[in-house]
Amino acid sequence: MVTRQGYREAMARFGAAVSVVTTDGPAGRHGFTASAVCSVTDDPPTLLVCVNRQNDSHPALLDNGVLCINTLAADQQEISAVFAGGEPDTAGRFVHGDWYTLDTGAPALHGAVVSFDCRVAQVTEIGTHSVIFASVLAIRHGSVDDGLVYFGRSYHPVRRPMSVK
Ligand SMILES: Cc1cc2nc3c(=O)[nH]c(=O)nc-3n(C[C@H](O)[C@H](O)[C@H](O)COP(=O)(O)O)c2cc1C
Repeated sequence: MVTRQGYREAMARFGAAVSVVTTDGPAGRHGFTASAVCSVTDDPPTLLVCVNRQNDSHPALLDNGVLCINTLAADQQEISAVFAGGEPDTAGRFVHGDWYTLDTGAPALHGAVVSFDCRVAQVTEIGTHSVIFASVLAIRHGSVDDGLVYFGRSYHPVRRPMSVK
């Protein structure tokens, strides 16, 4: 029998990129830190993000129907902490970082390794979370070299090989 705690301990060994997922629209501007982001398919370009239904941003993500997945650079740990609840106030979170918009109006982060501007395509509920399948409408590559990985309950910089654009 795998317990919830046992599963969490195991997932602490599962390294993953760190992103800040944002939304904006009639339901307001929100954002939170996420590592449960995964590519689904390149045809059509689709990502998934797993969102706890208790997150303050959960209703706005679904109501606005748009999101931007900003994959953080090594020097953006502080932004990760802010959007993981270090700053409880949503408006206060966006004081940190420089923001702009791509196609959907969801906030994109200057200095991110890459930003995926998306529309919600499909949502599946499982346990405590909603799995949001997101169609990618626009992509912006950052000019930074070092990405950020969360592994063993702490942040680690990772260097992009010179050969990879
Ligand atoms: C490294 C890291 C990764 C996280 N990944 C996720 C995730 O994939 N999905 C999620 O729902 N919460 C994730 N969280 C937790 C949320 O960021 C946190 O609960 C946040 O306060 C939610 O904000 P909100 O309630 O204002 O929307 C993660 C936190 C950290 C530090």
